[in-house]
Amino acid sequence: MSVTSSTTNAQSETMSAWVGEGGQARLVRCPRPEARPGEVVIRVLAAGVNRADLLQVAGHYPPPAGASEVLGLEVAGEVVQGAGSFKPGDAVMALLAGGGYAEYVAVDAGSVLPLPQGISVEQGAAIPEAFVTAYQCLCHLGQLAAGQRVLLHAGASGVGTAAIQLARHLGAEVWVTVGSEAKLEACRALGATGGVNHRQGDFAQALPPVDLIVDPVGGDYLGRNLKLLKPDGQLIQLAMMGGRRAEVDLALVLAKRLTVRGSTLRSQPKAVKAALVQGLWQRFGAAFEGGEIAPVVDSAYAFESVAEAHRRMADNANTGKLVLKLAQ
Ligand SMILES: NC(=O)c1ccc[n+]([C@@H]2O[C@H](COP(=O)([O-])OP(=O)(O)OC[C@H]3O[C@@H](n4cnc5c(N)ncnc54)[C@H](OP(=O)(O)O)[C@@H]3O)[C@@H](O)[C@H]2O)c1
Repeated sequence: MSVTSSTTNAQSETMSAWVGEGGQARLVRCPRPEARPGEVVIRVLAAGVNRADLLQVAGHYPPPAGASEVLGLEVAGEVVQGAGSFKPGDAVMALLAGGGYAEYVAVDAGSVLPLPQGISVEQGAAIPEAFVTAYQCLCHLGQLAAGQRVLLHAGASGVGTAAIQLARHLGAEVWVTVGSEAKLEACRALGATGGVNHRQGDFAQALPPVDLIVDPVGGDYLGRNLKLLKPDGQLIQLAMMGGRRAEVDLALVLAKRLTVRGSTLRSQPKAVKAALVQGLWQRFGAAFEGGEIAPVVDSAYAFESVAEAHRRMADNANTGKLVLKLAQ
């Protein structure tokens, strides 16, 4: 990417964007993205903040090959160059492999959805990454069914607050782990039956056996997850916030016929992402349109305030999503 030091006097061919450099987020000027075949160009009005952005800034999560180096995995805004069924002026939200913390982004039309009626751009920017991740885990991989019981670790995270709502909509019983009583209350308000404050108790002792676990923590959660799963249960590993290594009692895996699966989204081919984005909408779009499911937006920050938004996330202070709002 070519970058200049000036951040003022935007010209039509350049834009402001945030990249990760030397362990910090830095505002730069860079060329506006050009659409490849099948891509929509969106003028970004709001961008979602994700834990992955913090990892990318820290140098631990480089963009997949061919993706923008600009931070940001989701946006809402206005189409300025159409493709597929989208035309200039359409209000949309989109799942990205990168490029969201910017004034403009180009993305495959399959990863774009119309912004539902009654959903603000801040809310729209909070939907794609968390809800598509939750959909992939619960429906595509987990095959969660009505009456089943699911445990969502980090239940008050962006992904957790999305997953609680999708799981409840499917008719499942939801349990969570969280780091505070206030977060537990927020999860209950979204439909969770209950949960455990991981600072105060051991979830594997306190919770009933479950059919499915979605876990972004890992580390020493692994052994306890395997203990808590019912026979034929499934663990979906989403991240490793608590550590990447653990000892496994294979006797538990064998005796209970357990499945342990990893799940990633950003690096998936565009056709897989498009199928997930469209799958989410076919199954749950009406519930979004009807207001039964809505993203939980913890707070919105000005586009210039990336450092403050990232600090709130790094402090584990958010319940639900953080978003950046661009001047209109
Ligand atoms: N694989 C994928 O496809 C995929 C896609 C999206 C996100 N993710 C991952 O899913 C997780 C949630 O993402 P997000 O953007 O929704 O995050 P988020 O809103 O920042 O929430 C993360 C929460 O996790 C909890 N946490 C942090 N460190 C922990 C630890 N060591 N042990 C236990 N809990 C811890 C904290 O909540 P408490 O205060 O409740 O502890 C924190 O607020 C992240 O790890 C992210 O990388 C994976």
